Amino acid sequence: MSKPIYVLNGPNLNLLGQREPEVYGHATLEDVRNRVNTRAAQYELAIEFRQSNTEGELVDWIQEAGANAAGLIINAGAYTHTSVAILDALLATDVPCIEVHLSNVFQREEFRHHSYISVACVGVICGFGVKSYELAVEALAERLDAAES
Ligand code: DQA
Repeated sequence: MSKPIYVLNGPNLNLLGQREPEVYGHATLEDVRNRVNTRAAQYELAIEFRQSNTEGELVDWIQEAGANAAGLIINAGAYTHTSVAILDALLATDVPCIEVHLSNVFQREEFRHHSYISVACVGVICGFGVKSYELAVEALAERLDAAES
Protein backbone atom coordinates (compact mmCIF):
# COMPACT_ATOMS: atom_id res chain seq x y z
CA MET A 1 0.00 0.00 0.00
CA SER A 2 1.51 3.38 -0.95
CA LYS A 3 1.67 6.12 1.66
CA PRO A 4 -1.25 8.60 1.80
CA ILE A 5 -1.27 12.33 1.25
CA TYR A 6 -2.24 14.18 4.42
CA VAL A 7 -4.57 17.15 3.84
CA LEU A 8 -4.63 19.24 7.00
CA ASN A 9 -7.03 22.09 7.66
CA GLY A 10 -6.64 24.66 10.40
CA PRO A 11 -8.95 26.81 12.51
CA ASN A 12 -12.46 27.80 11.42
CA LEU A 13 -12.31 25.74 8.25
CA ASN A 14 -14.94 23.46 9.86
CA LEU A 15 -17.30 26.41 9.28
CA LEU A 16 -16.82 26.52 5.52
CA GLY A 17 -20.10 27.09 3.74
CA GLN A 18 -21.45 29.27 6.57
CA ARG A 19 -18.35 31.35 7.25
CA GLU A 20 -18.01 34.57 5.20
CA PRO A 21 -19.36 32.94 2.02
CA GLU A 22 -18.53 36.08 0.05
CA VAL A 23 -14.84 35.31 0.79
CA TYR A 24 -14.74 31.52 1.05
CA GLY A 25 -17.68 30.45 -1.11
CA HIS A 26 -20.55 28.08 -0.34
CA ALA A 27 -18.73 24.74 -0.40
CA THR A 28 -18.51 22.97 2.96
CA LEU A 29 -15.42 21.20 4.29
CA GLU A 30 -17.16 17.94 3.40
CA ASP A 31 -17.43 19.19 -0.21
CA VAL A 32 -13.70 19.99 -0.13
CA ARG A 33 -12.97 16.49 1.18
CA ASN A 34 -15.05 14.90 -1.60
CA ARG A 35 -13.40 16.92 -4.33
CA VAL A 36 -9.94 16.17 -2.96
CA ASN A 37 -10.75 12.45 -2.77
CA THR A 38 -12.08 12.40 -6.35
CA ARG A 39 -9.02 14.18 -7.67
CA ALA A 40 -6.62 11.96 -5.69
CA ALA A 41 -8.37 8.80 -6.94
CA GLN A 42 -7.46 9.82 -10.50
CA TYR A 43 -3.81 9.53 -9.43
CA GLU A 44 -4.44 6.44 -7.30
CA LEU A 45 -3.46 8.40 -4.21
CA ALA A 46 -5.02 7.83 -0.80
CA ILE A 47 -6.00 10.86 1.27
CA GLU A 48 -5.97 11.40 5.02
CA PHE A 49 -8.16 14.49 5.44
CA ARG A 50 -8.37 16.27 8.81
CA GLN A 51 -9.36 19.58 10.40
CA SER A 52 -8.50 21.04 13.78
CA ASN A 53 -9.01 24.35 15.52
CA THR A 54 -6.02 23.61 17.77
CA GLU A 55 -2.46 24.57 16.88
CA GLY A 56 -0.85 21.72 18.87
CA GLU A 57 -3.03 19.11 17.20
CA LEU A 58 -1.95 20.38 13.79
CA VAL A 59 1.69 20.14 14.95
CA ASP A 60 1.08 16.53 16.08
CA TRP A 61 -0.48 15.67 12.72
CA ILE A 62 2.40 17.25 10.77
CA GLN A 63 4.82 15.12 12.80
CA GLU A 64 2.64 12.08 12.08
CA ALA A 65 2.65 12.94 8.37
CA GLY A 66 6.44 13.13 8.52
CA ALA A 67 6.45 9.49 9.56
CA ASN A 68 3.51 8.15 7.53
CA ALA A 69 2.76 10.33 4.51
CA ALA A 70 4.07 10.65 0.97
CA GLY A 71 3.18 14.34 0.94
CA LEU A 72 1.30 17.02 2.77
CA ILE A 73 -1.21 19.71 1.75
CA ILE A 74 -1.97 22.28 4.42
CA ASN A 75 -4.42 25.11 4.78
CA ALA A 76 -3.29 26.38 8.16
CA GLY A 77 -5.99 29.09 8.20
CA ALA A 78 -5.07 32.00 10.45
CA TYR A 79 -2.11 30.03 11.89
CA THR A 80 -0.45 30.63 8.52
CA HIS A 81 0.12 34.20 9.63
CA THR A 82 1.07 33.53 13.26
CA SER A 83 2.55 30.10 13.88
CA VAL A 84 6.26 29.48 14.28
CA ALA A 85 5.30 26.11 15.83
CA ILE A 86 3.67 24.96 12.58
CA LEU A 87 6.65 26.25 10.60
CA ASP A 88 9.04 24.31 12.84
CA ALA A 89 6.96 21.12 12.51
CA LEU A 90 7.04 21.46 8.70
CA LEU A 91 10.80 22.13 8.72
CA ALA A 92 11.25 18.94 10.74
CA THR A 93 9.51 16.77 8.11
CA ASP A 94 11.08 15.52 4.90
CA VAL A 95 7.82 15.03 3.01
CA PRO A 96 6.97 17.66 0.38
CA CYS A 97 4.34 20.14 1.52
CA ILE A 98 2.06 22.45 -0.47
CA GLU A 99 0.41 25.44 1.23
CA VAL A 100 -3.11 26.20 0.07
CA HIS A 101 -5.66 28.92 0.68
CA LEU A 102 -9.17 29.24 -0.66
CA SER A 103 -8.99 33.02 -0.86
CA ASN A 104 -6.36 35.19 -2.53
CA VAL A 105 -4.67 36.28 0.68
CA PHE A 106 -2.70 38.96 -1.21
CA GLN A 107 -5.93 40.72 -2.14
CA ARG A 108 -6.94 40.95 1.50
CA GLU A 109 -5.71 42.64 4.72
CA GLU A 110 -1.98 43.21 4.93
CA PHE A 111 -1.51 40.82 7.88
CA ARG A 112 -2.58 37.99 5.56
CA HIS A 113 0.21 38.78 3.08
CA HIS A 114 2.84 37.16 5.27
CA SER A 115 2.99 33.41 5.74
CA TYR A 116 5.28 31.85 8.33
CA ILE A 117 4.99 28.48 6.64
CA SER A 118 5.72 29.20 2.95
CA VAL A 119 9.49 28.80 3.39
CA ALA A 120 8.90 25.18 4.41
CA CYS A 121 6.65 24.43 1.41
CA VAL A 122 7.49 23.48 -2.17
CA GLY A 123 4.77 25.82 -3.40
CA VAL A 124 1.77 27.94 -2.49
CA ILE A 125 -1.63 27.91 -4.21
CA CYS A 126 -4.22 30.51 -3.25
CA GLY A 127 -7.28 32.26 -4.58
CA PHE A 128 -9.04 29.45 -6.46
CA GLY A 129 -11.51 28.34 -3.79
CA VAL A 130 -11.84 24.55 -3.54
CA LYS A 131 -9.88 24.32 -6.79
CA SER A 132 -6.77 25.41 -4.82
CA TYR A 133 -6.88 22.01 -3.09
CA GLU A 134 -7.39 20.11 -6.36
CA LEU A 135 -4.46 21.95 -7.95
CA ALA A 136 -2.33 21.03 -4.94
CA VAL A 137 -3.26 17.33 -5.30
CA GLU A 138 -2.33 17.52 -8.99
CA ALA A 139 1.01 19.26 -8.29
CA LEU A 140 1.90 16.83 -5.54
CA ALA A 141 0.95 13.81 -7.65
CA GLU A 142 3.23 14.98 -10.46
CA ARG A 143 6.06 15.68 -8.05
CA LEU A 144 5.77 12.27 -6.40
CA ASP A 145 5.58 10.60 -9.80
CA ALA A 146 8.73 12.46 -10.95
CA ALA A 147 10.54 11.49 -7.73
CA GLU A 148 9.71 7.82 -8.35
CA SER A 149 10.90 7.70 -11.96
C1 DQA B 1 -7.40 31.02 4.57
C2 DQA B 1 -6.86 32.46 4.60
C3 DQA B 1 -6.46 32.86 6.01
O1 DQA B 1 -5.98 34.19 6.01
C4 DQA B 1 -7.65 32.77 6.93
O2 DQA B 1 -7.27 33.07 8.26
C5 DQA B 1 -8.34 31.45 6.87
C6 DQA B 1 -8.53 30.82 5.57
C7 DQA B 1 -7.95 30.63 3.17
O3 DQA B 1 -8.12 29.44 2.94
O4 DQA B 1 -8.20 31.51 2.35
O5 DQA B 1 -8.82 30.93 7.86
O6 DQA B 1 -6.35 30.14 4.89
